[in-house]
Amino acid sequence: MSSKALEMLANETVEDSDDDVPQLSAHALAALEEFYTDQHQQEKSASVQPAEDWNLSQFWYNEATCETLATEVEACCREQNPNSPSEVIVAFVSCPTLYLHVRKLRLNKQQSVDNLHLLEFDTRFASWDDSYQSRFNFHRYDFREPEKLPANLLGKCSLVIADPPFLSEECLRSTAFSIQRLICSNSGRLILCTGAVQEDLAAKYLNASRRQFKPGHANRLSNEFACFTNYSTITFE
Ligand SMILES: C[S@@+](CC[C@H](N)C(=O)[O-])C[C@H]1O[C@@H](n2cnc3c(N)ncnc32)[C@H](O)[C@@H]1O
Repeated sequence: MSSKALEMLANETVEDSDDDVPQLSAHALAALEEFYTDQHQQEKSASVQPAEDWNLSQFWYNEATCETLATEVEACCREQNPNSPSEVIVAFVSCPTLYLHVRKLRLNKQQSVDNLHLLEFDTRFASWDDSYQSRFNFHRYDFREPEKLPANLLGKCSLVIADPPFLSEECLRSTAFSIQRLICSNSGRLILCTGAVQEDLAAKYLNASRRQFKPGHANRLSNEFACFTNYSTITFE
């Protein structure tokens, strides 16, 4: 929208008033106002996402990956509850930027975000969200204490998306322990994004198999990344 608004401005006839002060038409002024509103909104949204802290093994998804995963999250919610998809309980475990992305898309459509939950170690994500004047649904989570989970989410999550911080068996086993306690026992779905080397462990601990889709990151990672699910994905292969 903003580039369209700028293009309109560039093509707009500039009218000079009597005192030679250049004037923009009402049309161009409206486009300019829209551009600045969009830009301001984007700056506010961007400021919510903290910089990566590599000591915490933080590697944020790129925009395309957030879009792909968010589309799948919404498709799963619609399948689970066609009349009220936002009532489906979704847990984002150690994948904060995806949580922010899905949350932003919903808020921009005036949809409820009450059932989107972030379980994350980094308390920077527990802050107040200035952009939308609301608090994040943040739950402090440490895979080293996998049984410490919000009681109200146990067995209630229809979808869990997880991206554990380390490529060790211990980290995946612990995170899997938590996921199994969060997820609905029969129909719960899982999306796991992690290193491709974890394929056997994803099958062993979570009965999840590899999809063709490869998550991408804002900063290039040397490890090959992969996506594993315990169901047939709806919107990507
Ligand atoms: C590989 S990153 C995944 C982030 C994801 N790609 C995103 O963009 O949202 C690992 C995540 O695990 C979190 N983390 C770090 N230490 C943790 C711990 N002890 N327990 C649980 N999560 C942890 C990091 O803060 C980070 O959000």
